[in-house]
Amino acid sequence: MNGDFLEHYFTNNEALKSELRIIKYKLDNHEFIFNSDNGVFSKNKIDFGSKVLLENFLKENKKNVDNLLDIGCGYGFMGIVLAKILDAKPTLIDVNKRAIHLTKMNLKENKIKGDTFVSDIYGQVQNQFDLIITNPPIRAGKIIVLKILQDAKNHLNEEGELWFVIRKDQGAKSILKEIEAFYENEIIKKEKGFFVIRSKKR
Ligand SMILES: C[S@@+](CC[C@H](N)C(=O)[O-])C[C@H]1O[C@@H](n2cnc3c(N)ncnc32)[C@H](O)[C@@H]1O
Repeated sequence: MNGDFLEHYFTNNEALKSELRIIKYKLDNHEFIFNSDNGVFSKNKIDFGSKVLLENFLKENKKNVDNLLDIGCGYGFMGIVLAKILDAKPTLIDVNKRAIHLTKMNLKENKIKGDTFVSDIYGQVQNQFDLIITNPPIRAGKIIVLKILQDAKNHLNEEGELWFVIRKDQGAKSILKEIEAFYENEIIKKEKGFFVIRSKKR
């Protein structure tokens, strides 16, 4: 191996040089600050798909959310913003250790109390939630994405909902087919090729 191997944002490479940077995000009168770094997803700016998901969730959601799970949280964008705006308790998990390190910093930075820990899919998750939200790791492969979506049902409260975003050209339609035995799915929004989906347990 010549050392020039491909790194994915979901792998743990502790040797990767740290170059912290700040990303700002404003929604209504709330201002947020996110620390980001090399080796995490969308390190230089808030991902467009995550923004479309979060903003449409806030527009369309009618339910009370006391607790939520952001799975594949990256540096914590969706979980932290939602916790603040909904006054809900967030749990944020990711397989990437650096992402969890950043999420810890960002919870503090934005004065949010929540749980955050490394977990491969739901491996370390014990609770049930009113909301599970995810921008799933397409590049980790369909098996992982389907596990994140399908196994969410085991971690949702009776009336809980799964919300996720997926691009049309990343197989949105086939993913919806694969999970329709478990959920009633609704496409809440289509924006620039991104589908925002709400799934309710059958
Ligand atoms: C598309 S990114 C979204 C990141 C973040 N939610 C955001 O909006 O910026 C998907 C995330 O899933 C994480 N991930 C990949 N495989 C995972 C697994 N097996 N279990 C948990 N998280 C995983 C990646 O590390 C990455 O942070």
